[in-house]
Amino acid sequence: MKFQASTLAAFVAIPAVSATLGWPWISPPNGIGHGGKNSDNDLLHTLAVKAGKKYFGTATDNGELNNKDYTKILNNKKQFGQLTPSNGQKWMYIEPEQNVFNFTNGEVVGNLAKKNHQILRCHTLVWHSQLPEWVEFGNWTKETLSAVVVNHITKVLTQWKGKCYAWDVINEAFNDDGTFRETVFYNVIGEDYFALAFKTAAKIDPSTKLYINDYNLEARSDKTRAVQKLVRSLKKQKVKIDGVGAQAHLIVGSTPSREAQIQNLQDFVATGVEVAQTELDIRLALPANATNLAQQSIDYENTVAACVAVKGCVGTTIWDFYDPYSWVPSVFAGEGAATLYFEDFTKHPAYWGVVKALASGGKHPHWPWPFNN
Ligand SMILES: *[C@@H]1O[C@H](CO)[C@@H](O)[C@H](O)[C@H]1NC(C)=O
Ligand SMILES: *[C@@H]1O[C@H](CO)[C@@H](O)[C@H](O)[C@H]1NC(C)=O
Ligand SMILES: *[C@@H]1O[C@H](CO)[C@@H](O)[C@H](O)[C@H]1NC(C)=O
Repeated sequence: MKFQASTLAAFVAIPAVSATLGWPWISPPNGIGHGGKNSDNDLLHTLAVKAGKKYFGTATDNGELNNKDYTKILNNKKQFGQLTPSNGQKWMYIEPEQNVFNFTNGEVVGNLAKKNHQILRCHTLVWHSQLPEWVEFGNWTKETLSAVVVNHITKVLTQWKGKCYAWDVINEAFNDDGTFRETVFYNVIGEDYFALAFKTAAKIDPSTKLYINDYNLEARSDKTRAVQKLVRSLKKQKVKIDGVGAQAHLIVGSTPSREAQIQNLQDFVATGVEVAQTELDIRLALPANATNLAQQSIDYENTVAACVAVKGCVGTTIWDFYDPYSWVPSVFAGEGAATLYFEDFTKHPAYWGVVKALASGGKHPHWPWPFNN
């Protein structure tokens, strides 16, 4: 179901489409990206820093790092100033058997970020998915599973001590109705597992920002209110929690408005933490065409602009930047083209939506569409 470059080529050749929209949708807006070959004024991390953010980054995975066309873009700090390992730090790879640790895959991405002088966001410690069976189906008591959680966090945080800007300590702990997800951690340890995980992480690496991360946190809902309640409760107990990650796995045409996203990010900041968009991608019903790509550009622009507009939002991470490496087609049948680069490494119109969001300081309403350059 992956989007093929040949599909785009076929559609691009249709004169009716180009007559309607012209070509501007595939090129940068006025005044942006026209600074010549060596200009940095269309590079995302550079623009994000100018807009007052810490970074604009991307997730990446070990199996992608031998694609030279891909790594040429990935390794450009001015484009991506921050990396997240998509998989290499997840429990099933890090501790596949009890107390047997393997940091290899996570280290490869961490070392690449170091070599490129990119910020490393680390992901993730306690999550019900991609969890080895020995944890998920163990015959635990509260005491024995708590010891397992403490050991895992201790070993992993020690391994990357001082190297991670942030850790997603707990991932996807809530249902959409705001109730706690019934994971092995919740079922066995109860609500105490939140404080246990955050306290352990804070003790081992006091320098890293400790985040709770989840999807469907992009607009006010029962789920966002539940996360805010948890943050306030942890803070009241003097448990260190520094950030909320809104994953931002969004859908073209049903992405929350810029205003809704700004208001929502501000709600999180009001609980005394920073926020970040940690896994942004915006999928569409394939095939990509001029209409859904134009809407995707607006949706990306609004989402990134919301982070730019909120002071406590430190940055945006996209969940890989190249369509063939996106998780979307394998999980959502018939959907894809969710990233910023097509299979042939040409840029989606949404790339320029992101550029506009970063270059505008989040202030402007929508640029006129299509771009009038
Ligand atoms: C650790 O993980 C790497 C990457 O998946 C693998 O190649 C290696 O064999 C593993 N090491 C051990 C000791 O299992
Ligand atoms: C689970 O653990 C309890 C107490 O530790 C023990 O009595 C019980 O037999 C175990 N059950 C299984 C299926 O191993
Ligand atoms: C473009 O694709 C969408 C689905 O993503 C579809 O609903 C729409 O009809 C298509 N438009 C054109 C002009 O092909």
